[in-house]
Amino acid sequence: MSTTHKIIFGDARRMKELADNSIHLVVTSPPYFNAPFDFPGLFKNYEEYLELIKSVGKEIYRVLSEGRIACFVIQDVRIDGELYPIVSDIIKIMREIGFKYRDKIIWKKPEGYIRISRRSGVLIQHPYPMYYYPDNIYEEIVIFQKGRFNYSRISQSLKEQSKIPLSKFQNEKWYLSMWEITNVLPSNDISKYTAVFPEELAERLIKLYSYVGEIVLDPFLGTGTTAVVAKELNRNSIGYEIDLELKPIIEKRLGLKTKTLLTFYGEGVKSVKVEFIIRDDAKHLRTKLRKVINEKLQKKKNKKH
Ligand SMILES: C[S@@+](CC[C@H](N)C(=O)[O-])C[C@H]1O[C@@H](n2cnc3c(N)ncnc32)[C@H](O)[C@@H]1O
Repeated sequence: MSTTHKIIFGDARRMKELADNSIHLVVTSPPYFNAPFDFPGLFKNYEEYLELIKSVGKEIYRVLSEGRIACFVIQDVRIDGELYPIVSDIIKIMREIGFKYRDKIIWKKPEGYIRISRRSGVLIQHPYPMYYYPDNIYEEIVIFQKGRFNYSRISQSLKEQSKIPLSKFQNEKWYLSMWEITNVLPSNDISKYTAVFPEELAERLIKLYSYVGEIVLDPFLGTGTTAVVAKELNRNSIGYEIDLELKPIIEKRLGLKTKTLLTFYGEGVKSVKVEFIIRDDAKHLRTKLRKVINEKLQKKKNKKH
């Protein structure tokens, strides 16, 4: 089995490298607006953020094959006490573009594993009415479909190769609209780069919505989770990421140093080809973002003392 993985550094608002109707599944997690500990000040305002979602959403619609699925892992963001309704706005935008809103799954994280600082601490300091902000323990996976899927076009042998593991489906309760999956912990090296989603989450989506040998796209690739899991599951992948500073971590996670590599897999040999394209609209973001985050943390510390 051989797979190819193309990583394009550039703005996903323009996926000019991709032909119409050429992608079989989209699994992605867009930036969380100006989330204070991930993307502070990345967007001028909320409208500019929604424009990004709209442009990328239109590109996704263009490149997805008929009947296929786009999954967004996302959550509303609280900034200075105000909650931005990202999830409902994305649903509205995707429906306007022409997608069918097919499903919503709640991704519940284990209690005590939350990445963002505990909001409920405010009430413990001030145990009076109006100080209440709950700790957020879940994110949402919103699932869209372009048109109708033609099941009869998939051969029986491809269906067999791509069979869903029913024991996992039953034991891990994939059949529920709430998935309990441990998030990538802050202590994990990759979480310092961005809000990473767990491989297990990508694994479920890729197994449930694509066949072996097909192409999975992530327009907001981050540290490369979608590509890593697609590779494991014998799917091809394409990822866009605007921040060139994430190239080393993507390379590391894909386990690659050279352009083409042969990894031993089970009995046979698995050929994995990785291609990087660096467009001139790629940016250097992480160093700048980290500087702003550190300044914010320092301010908070100073306030406490
Ligand atoms: C929430 S993170 C994705 C994390 C990813 N799921 C992972 O597991 O590592 C969103 C990513 O989108 C990138 N991004 C922001 N604007 C972009 C754009 N216009 N085009 C492509 N990537 C963009 C950010 O740099 C960030 O790495």
